[in-house]
Amino acid sequence: MISRDFVVARDALEQCKTIETELPDADALPSEALLVKVERFAFTTNNITYAVAGDELKYWQLFPAPKGFGNIPVWGFGEVIASRHPGVAAGERLFGYFPMATHLFIEATDVSKRALRDGAAHRQVAASVYNTYARVGHDAAFAGRRGDHQALLRPLFMLSFMVDDHLAENDFFGAQTAILSSASSKTAFGLAHLIHSQRDSVTVIGLTSASNVDFVKSLGCYDEVLTYDQVTSVPSVTPVVYVDMAGNSRLREMLHRHFGEAMRYSGRIGLTHRATSPDEPDLPGAKPRFFFAPDQMRKRAREWGPGGIDQRFGTAWAGFAPKLDKWIDVVESRGAEAVQKVYLDTLAGRIPPAQGHMLSLLD
Ligand SMILES: NC(=O)c1ccc[n+]([C@@H]2O[C@H](COP(=O)([O-])OP(=O)(O)OC[C@H]3O[C@@H](n4cnc5c(N)ncnc54)[C@H](OP(=O)(O)O)[C@@H]3O)[C@@H](O)[C@H]2O)c1
Repeated sequence: MISRDFVVARDALEQCKTIETELPDADALPSEALLVKVERFAFTTNNITYAVAGDELKYWQLFPAPKGFGNIPVWGFGEVIASRHPGVAAGERLFGYFPMATHLFIEATDVSKRALRDGAAHRQVAASVYNTYARVGHDAAFAGRRGDHQALLRPLFMLSFMVDDHLAENDFFGAQTAILSSASSKTAFGLAHLIHSQRDSVTVIGLTSASNVDFVKSLGCYDEVLTYDQVTSVPSVTPVVYVDMAGNSRLREMLHRHFGEAMRYSGRIGLTHRATSPDEPDLPGAKPRFFFAPDQMRKRAREWGPGGIDQRFGTAWAGFAPKLDKWIDVVESRGAEAVQKVYLDTLAGRIPPAQGHMLSLLD
């Protein structure tokens, strides 16, 4: 059997190719191993960020690729097609972190009714959220279009949820205005939705490109929508928190210099613009800080106890998911050529924000 993998040059992300590798015979699987067919996966700018931060955050180590290349992790669905684990049958459907490929071997461990983990040594470099698979065969919330929404948005909405939680537990650092960059991104509008729907006293301002203003306004979860060059129209004495999905150093500097000490929190979340300078100057106002969702998840897991995050996140997702039919057009593509096109379009920022791409390397 042949596996097909989509790989990208680590130092030149526009160089990409599909390679084929021979899979060992299913009969030769080691004990407890699973062979999973990767059925479909979501692809958004978040995946490009995994590639940009591939060395630093060890994403390249999760799914091995030929020297100089990397396989970008994606969130999606797989079907177990061969199993040497007594607790997992062929035919099981899994949701989790996969390579851009047609197949993945998993060393099944910590198998419970609802989940299992890949215990392969090379995957333990990452937080456990990145090697845990939900067993979703009988879960209607992961089937059909609702399943696509889970793959496209659930991991991003976890970040939105954790940022909202972090801001709320710090009383929005004394501010009543939140400014979000790359407001058209799924991660940003998930956060805008949470703040807008739960926190009446906080005004949410979305910053976006001129071409995405109409889309961002149509969402109805931002109180105000500004293009990047309009940001200084917000009075500079207004205390603000800045949640940065764009990772644009010039924009960050402009905001910090405009708001000065009124910049009460400056969270570095994303890199959509890929315009981060390696040495940013010291800036007035709150010191920019990286926000990494798994860190806040670990903190809340300790504080809220078993099931505490799931229960609260489930409630938040239930309020968000019904909006997605209206907000996102799911676009499905199959095969190596189509995957390459969506990858290159996403890399170049050519995907309209209303689109959510579900891909498969299977024919
Ligand atoms: N720290 C964490 O734990 C964590 C967790 C989840 C997500 N994130 C990050 O949040 C960011 C958003 O991810 P997403 O998947 O939600 O994005 P998305 O929905 O695919 O966002 C698309 C938007 O990003 C901007 N953009 C994308 N590519 C661009 C390019 N080449 N040049 C300029 N602008 C570009 C545009 O927004 P505008 O025109 O509005 O700028 C575009 O509409 C990512 O960087 C992701 O890694 C971080």
